[in-house]
Amino acid sequence: MSRKPIIAGNWKMNKTLSEAQAFVDAVKNNLPSSEKVDSVIGAPALFLAPMAYSRQGSELQLAAENSYFENAGAFTGENSPAAIADLGIEYIIIGHSERREYFHETDEDINKKAKAIFANGLTPILCCGETLETFEAGKTAEFVSAQIEAGLEGLTAEQVSKLVIAYEPIWAIGTGKTATNEIADETCGVVRSTVEKLYGKEVSEAVRIQYGGSVKPETIEGLMAKENIDGALVGGASLEAESFLALLEIYK
Ligand code: PGA
Repeated sequence: MSRKPIIAGNWKMNKTLSEAQAFVDAVKNNLPSSEKVDSVIGAPALFLAPMAYSRQGSELQLAAENSYFENAGAFTGENSPAAIADLGIEYIIIGHSERREYFHETDEDINKKAKAIFANGLTPILCCGETLETFEAGKTAEFVSAQIEAGLEGLTAEQVSKLVIAYEPIWAIGTGKTATNEIADETCGVVRSTVEKLYGKEVSEAVRIQYGGSVKPETIEGLMAKENIDGALVGGASLEAESFLALLEIYK
């Protein structure tokens, strides 16, 4: 089965609204066709409504970087997945290692978020990945499959077929240290076999798995050539329009 690649920027807590709008203006008419690749920007929640408006008619897809798992209520400061869905955007990133580490998100929270996002008709981009310590102890496969099992708990086969999973080794995020193409492919393969074990071959062949961690325009082609890598989640190299477009150059 051929899976459509998905290249997603993750801006994290960067940019102002005017900078975000200038970025949209710079990329919106220069993106490859969404028949070949999904071109996504994950932006701070504050910018999503204006960006959803200004990207109209272009191939640019949008992701929130997080959401809560309840649709409404007394949860001061959180963003509702129903409200995000109403903006007409496509994805919500969940379980990024920075959210797990600094905001104490657990696998259970992430699982609830995945369910709420699907219930609102959006697609989660579910992140997983191990620390340097776990990597050096040779426990990556065990650790990442446990994160996937917990994150997918109770999701249906149909939902998991549409899911995007991002494998991001924490030691490669923002460090300039990319995992080798082989290591990235091997662990994305572990993610795929975990999905196969839980949901069967058809679902595991459909789920899209991204690699993330210091991906650059110069390194993307080698990563994307790997069997189990269907895309990339890119922080630093997605911040400038020129560099984001360069990540997509191979699909033009
Ligand atoms: P990086 O970030 O590309 O800057 O390493 C990736 C991420 O955290 O999603």
